[in-house]
Amino acid sequence: MAKEKGKGPRHVAIIMDGNGRWATQRGRPRLFGHHAGARRVREVVRACPDLGVDYITIFAFSTENWKRTQVEVAGLMSLFRRYITKEAKALHDEDVRVRFIGDRVRLDNKLVDLMDELELMTSECKKVNLTIALNYGGRDEVARATKRLAQDVANGSLKPADVNEETLPKYLDTYVLPDPDLVIRTSGEARISNFLLWQSAYAEYEFIDTLWPDFTAEELARLVRSYGTRDRRFGAVKA
Ligand code: FPP
Repeated sequence: MAKEKGKGPRHVAIIMDGNGRWATQRGRPRLFGHHAGARRVREVVRACPDLGVDYITIFAFSTENWKRTQVEVAGLMSLFRRYITKEAKALHDEDVRVRFIGDRVRLDNKLVDLMDELELMTSECKKVNLTIALNYGGRDEVARATKRLAQDVANGSLKPADVNEETLPKYLDTYVLPDPDLVIRTSGEARISNFLLWQSAYAEYEFIDTLWPDFTAEELARLVRSYGTRDRRFGAVKA
């Protein structure tokens, strides 16, 4: 259950946008911006425990991002492999439990092996939960979930009458996570781009101008404080 007014968000989800523009502003290739963006992830994850944030979910690569140039896609995939290899020990030592959401079928085997290893290696970690959305799309996730749900109906383990708002999310990639309380998008774009569509039904949103490579732990702290002033009613009327 999400937290009430006056409390900080338990789950923060971030659409890390603006890496390309950040690099272009500096006359550098887009991948330079993605590398700078990757360095921000560590700072932001580290800040979570002191801010009372138990879950942080970041959008690293969408099902639509395959439409980018082959150079950018290959560069991002190589960055993800490097990030996991380089950061695994620090994440484990800092007690960060890492999970991945998204469809792994289209990802290369080496990357999937690294993802599986990192999930296993951090499976006992408890301080903060980092979820990385990689080849993730909200519609794709709902479609994959529905396929599995339909298989369970077909094999008799789920009755059509039992399909409801409680059973369907059990088939989503996020089945072990609480819904996000606060969704942040950087870089001044005010759209959600297929991120956590089902899960964000009652999330609060922050669209901020900062480009992701400039986003800091201080800015996260400011947004967490601002969330505490919001009045979440979940469709109800105040008594
Ligand atoms: C959007 O900015 C960003 C991405 C598609 C990639 C996000 C990836 C990272 C921040 C890399 C690090 C992540 C991990 C987990 C290591 P954009 O390229 O669309 O920026 P633009 O809108 O300015 O072009």
